[in-house]
Amino acid sequence: MSGRLPWVVKYRPRRVDEVVGQDEAKRVLREWLGQWAKGRIPEKRAALLYGPPGVGKTSLVEALARELDFDVLELNASDYRRKADIERTVGVAAGKKPLFKRGLIILMDEVDGIDPKADEGGLEALLGIVKKTINPIVFTANDPWKEQLRPLRDLCLMVEFKELSEGALMALLKRICDSERIYCDEGALRYIVEKSMGDARAAINDLQAVAEGYGKVTLDLVRAIVKGRDKTLNIWRTLNNIFYARQAWMAKKAVTQSEEDYESLITWLSDSIPKKYEDPLDLYRAYEALARATLQLSRGKTTGEWSLLSYVFDLMGPGVAFARISGGISREKYGFPEKVRLAVQLKSVREVREKLAEQLSRSILASKSTIKNEVIPYMMVIFRNESNPLMAARLALGYRLDKEMIKFLAGPNADNVIKAIEKIKRAKPEEVKVEVERQPKAQPKPPAKEGREERRPRTTGGLDRFIKK
Ligand SMILES: Nc1ncnc2c1ncn2[C@@H]1O[C@H](COP(=O)(O)OP(=O)(O)OP(=O)(O)O)[C@@H](O)[C@H]1O
Ligand SMILES: [Mg+2]
Repeated sequence: MSGRLPWVVKYRPRRVDEVVGQDEAKRVLREWLGQWAKGRIPEKRAALLYGPPGVGKTSLVEALARELDFDVLELNASDYRRKADIERTVGVAAGKKPLFKRGLIILMDEVDGIDPKADEGGLEALLGIVKKTINPIVFTANDPWKEQLRPLRDLCLMVEFKELSEGALMALLKRICDSERIYCDEGALRYIVEKSMGDARAAINDLQAVAEGYGKVTLDLVRAIVKGRDKTLNIWRTLNNIFYARQAWMAKKAVTQSEEDYESLITWLSDSIPKKYEDPLDLYRAYEALARATLQLSRGKTTGEWSLLSYVFDLMGPGVAFARISGGISREKYGFPEKVRLAVQLKSVREVREKLAEQLSRSILASKSTIKNEVIPYMMVIFRNESNPLMAARLALGYRLDKEMIKFLAGPNADNVIKAIEKIKRAKPEEVKVEVERQPKAQPKPPAKEGREERRPRTTGGLDRFIKK
């Protein structure tokens, strides 16, 4: 069996002619980058490559860069949402000539992942940089037609990538079979290609799964193993396929095909192992494998060394499956792991926090992330102060917070705050009505003066007055 490197990495095109299909994209992009290489700045300083996943967008940029002697700075757009981050990275790179190479391509993946509402000024910062850059910037996206990307589209050379044709994919798979010296029959390759729906990454992964399991690729094997792309496996089937795997590749396939992300799959496995395995030695071996999988996974994540993933799959799948040597397997059902249950609860907490930040950002002039990191924690202190629920109540009314948000902020003190709100409403019914109901979009003001005059919060930044106390 050849190395453990995923074949999609091993056979990543090095030269442009190794990128199959995409003739039009190759031509347009080569011409555009050619201008940069000659030291001219073309009219459009950025290109937006779009099309389905796994068809060669990133690969082509890398291959062209090699051909033209350009460096590539790869950034993942979804990691760089904030204006400050973007300026510090893309902004700086956009203004500098590389020292050793002929040029520098700034490659930003997944630009469609930027959410203009949530990402504070990220998109605008990018637009500003594109207008001034002295290095070519290349964006990639699966869906470039989102409304928010319109200003970016206007500035970019649009380059379409198409689903790969069956002919192109067949040629690609055959080349891999040849260099791996693996017997592949034509019908089997055609079957893989059909199931891949034009996605080379998917096709190569399927080919590797079969080839590594059997050392040959025949139609029968492929029919048994390759499932359609649309059929990811749910968690129960994944667990069954691991625990009852008869061969190592079956367990590995169960892991790679799961719809669950690897962390949650580890959680599920860790909860299920003691339910399924009865012999202490089996248990020990299974946990040992799982612990090593966790370690490799976090190592892979921190170093970006994703060839480690293959070990992770081996440890989670075959590692756990074949830990059972001596003992039997129990028929006990898989339970919903406590940690997953907790994560679901946490998710709803996150949602409330998100909604609250949204609500507050309408009246406090600060970004949502500032609100989340700086304002909400202070509000929590105020809302949890048992001796003065009135202050929290006024804030709640002023900012029109709903019960869910109040509960989130006040925790065990929520009932106190809600009672205080009722009290305020009873005390000055007309005033409360005007404030709360008739001015839905008004800047929040504290709804009522309470007895002795207390200082009102100002309309913007009213909070900090409370906070500083
Ligand atoms: N046109 C192609 N020719 C040869 N190999 C390809 C081609 N397209 C994809 N591949 C293979 O699939 C892998 C993934 O391709 P690539 O990263 O270029 O896809 P992409 O279009 O950028 O996908 P995404 O939209 O998910 O970023 C490559 O490493 C390569 O092995
Ligand atoms: Mg890509």
